[in-house]
Amino acid sequence: MSGLAVAVAHPNIALSKYWGKRVGSGNFPAVPSLSVTLSGLSTRTVVQFDQALSADHLELSGRRADEVAEGRAVALLDRVRQASGIACFARVESVNDFPTASGLASSASGFAALALASARAAGLDWDAARLSDLARRSSASAARSLFGGYVELDAGPPSPTDADTLQARPLAPVHHMPLVVLVCVTTEGAKSVGSTEGMRATLETSPYASAWLDFAPRLHARLRAAVLSADLPEVGRLAESSALAMHASAIAAGVVYWTPPTLAAIAAVKALRESGLTAYATVDAGPHVKVLVARTDADAVGDAMRRVPGVLRVIEARPGAGARCVDGGVAS
Ligand code: PMV
Repeated sequence: MSGLAVAVAHPNIALSKYWGKRVGSGNFPAVPSLSVTLSGLSTRTVVQFDQALSADHLELSGRRADEVAEGRAVALLDRVRQASGIACFARVESVNDFPTASGLASSASGFAALALASARAAGLDWDAARLSDLARRSSASAARSLFGGYVELDAGPPSPTDADTLQARPLAPVHHMPLVVLVCVTTEGAKSVGSTEGMRATLETSPYASAWLDFAPRLHARLRAAVLSADLPEVGRLAESSALAMHASAIAAGVVYWTPPTLAAIAAVKALRESGLTAYATVDAGPHVKVLVARTDADAVGDAMRRVPGVLRVIEARPGAGARCVDGGVAS
């Protein structure tokens, strides 16, 4: 083992949203989710275990990470140390080519890349499923970014403990549907409420928490069937419904990720659809709108979205591959 590994991972966009955790330890989702891993946005992470270090050291985009981010990375590194028997600390350098912590799923690609790079640097030859479980303990959406294409993650067991495991699994390959995801960036800043805190507030205080927990698995089953039959308009309709229901439950708890450009972008997508284009909106824990479009409509929809007031830029993403080591070793 060299003690050093480099991994690249992409964010994923949830079509059927994970929002809410199981009570208990281990970071288990309360609802199932289904996502598509995206090319066009990526995180590159270098991990080196080094006997000369007196503590773990995390740099994000060239800057020393804050205590919270470093603490989350250290928790993952501790699991890797425990499994591998490695006793020394690690230097971690991670770079995103898109805004960090703004609802663009940086935790998904970040923890997927960290799980893969740190396991490989420690000499652990874990497969993608085991790495997915490792990543899930830090960020459940990260469990999905270990795999490419369309990926599913079940809800956790009803009363989970740390000893339980849960990993994502691939559902359909990258080229399954002619889908393009237009990421409409509305701010370059960090989001106001992290997803963990937003989920906690929603489940504890939203009058619509139980409605969400009841609706999400039923929506998920329909969306899963639509993905398997490659019915893109139905996938788009159901994905939009999932996002709207998730945000309705969060908003009722005072967790409002939307800004005026978010609403303008959602309205623009609806108008484009009424004009005959295949375009559906989805929004994660941030103000950006991601538009799910048929490949043939991507240019027309992209041009229209660039003109929406408050949309700073539009990134064109397509279904992409799972996390991989850049020296060529794939996770699976
Ligand atoms: O895994 P987290 O803590 O980054 O939460 C992800 C939450 C959403 O992005 C809003 C939904 C999802 O399934 O990715």
